[in-house]
Amino acid sequence: MAINPTLIKQSATLLAPKGTQITEYFYNYMFQHYPEVRPMFPSDMGPQAKRLLDSIIYIATNIDRTEVLIPYLQKLGAGHNKYKTLPEHYPIVGTSLLKTLEHFAGPAWTPELAESWTEAYKVAADVMIEAGQKAKGA
Ligand code: HEM
Repeated sequence: MAINPTLIKQSATLLAPKGTQITEYFYNYMFQHYPEVRPMFPSDMGPQAKRLLDSIIYIATNIDRTEVLIPYLQKLGAGHNKYKTLPEHYPIVGTSLLKTLEHFAGPAWTPELAESWTEAYKVAADVMIEAGQKAKGA
């Protein structure tokens, strides 16, 4: 089980130019498979839909810079309390993200890349969840 930072950064470079296509796929996948989270999001996602993907790309680009990543994720995690995000929502976003990445990576989606993204998401989610709980006083 390991994160390969080079692979993660490479795939972020490939994904960035596909912007809105990826965002649409991600939200369609998530809302179709997990309709229970749909009401948490604005009814018209509009251009802001891209913010989550931009954030994922930012995380991927800085995957080996913990000093940048940790404070960023802590702030993001605490900020998600206002969206009523709970720890159990994170695997939903994680699965939807992984499915989206797999779809767009095509043949570049190797077991090693899948494992790297799975681990990277898990680490990022853990930091966000912990910061969110702490900010709630939980
Ligand atoms: C690693 C995981 C996640 C990342 C990187 C992430 C990133 C972001 C970013 C950057 C925004 C834009 C506004 C802001 O900065 O607060 C946002 C908004 C939002 N996120 Fe997350 N998020 C993650 C997980 C989740 C989860 C698990 C949920 C719950 C299902 C969630 C629900 C929302 C909602 C409802 C919004 C507001 C609607 C919107 O502006 O699109 N997020 N997220």
